[in-house]
Amino acid sequence: PSAIPVITIDGPTASGKGTVAQRVADKLGFYYLDSGALYRLTALSAIRHQASLSDEHALSKVAEHLDCSFVGGDVFLAKENVTDAIRKEEIGNTASKIAALPGVRHALVGLQLRFRMAPGLVADGRDMGTVIFPSAILKVFLTASAEARAERRYKQLIGKGFSANMADLLKDLQERDARDANRSVAPLKPAEGAYILDTSNMTADQAVEQVLSWYASERKKAHS
Ligand code: CDP
Ligand code: CDP
Repeated sequence: PSAIPVITIDGPTASGKGTVAQRVADKLGFYYLDSGALYRLTALSAIRHQASLSDEHALSKVAEHLDCSFVGGDVFLAKENVTDAIRKEEIGNTASKIAALPGVRHALVGLQLRFRMAPGLVADGRDMGTVIFPSAILKVFLTASAEARAERRYKQLIGKGFSANMADLLKDLQERDARDANRSVAPLKPAEGAYILDTSNMTADQAVEQVLSWYASERKKAHS
């Protein structure tokens, strides 16, 4: 499986990882792993099971027995379509809290590795390049100013019919950035050798073009 190419796209919340990773995967005909969805699914499942959010053992069990599936852009928890439910800010915040627990992270490793299938994989998250796929052929760290990211998330939430408030979003986003960057296991940081792309003033398609061009040059290097 080490011959199967992986592109990792890590970065802070609402930097455009999901959008860019999905489009790059579509262009290349690769599989796509939204690792954040696994943490969100674990959060939702824990809430459904009324697990205590400070009980690492119980939460690790929830992660280990996660009954989820990804079907053409939709996400299922057991038989329930939770595509929109896991996008709520409350779930994102809970996901970020439980993602700091080593037991939860450990329980999700095997599931993530199984997404590496021919002809290739694009994986997005926080630790795709640093921890899960250190041998990736291309590692990208996508970022954008906090203001640009809050505005993107605002538009996304309103578009889904959720209510949202810019000031709260900006505050939540900064709190989440700090928590993700300062935790002791798998903190958010660029992987060694990662290309850093600040998309504050870029469209998602421009970011996609940049990633594809980096991929083409990494492949050339690998084959020469
Ligand atoms: O969409 P957004 O960037 O806000 O979040 P996400 O990628 O869906 O991830 C939700 C939370 O899961 C993040 O705040 C991280 O704390 C955690 N996460 C992680 O720890 N490691 C990953 N590989 C992906 C997500
Ligand atoms: O996965 P992550 O939380 O990093 O971001 P996302 O869910 O892909 O959301 C980013 C939102 O910003 C989407 O609605 C994109 O269309 C938009 N956007 C972007 O992704 N990249 C840009 N350069 C500009 C806007």
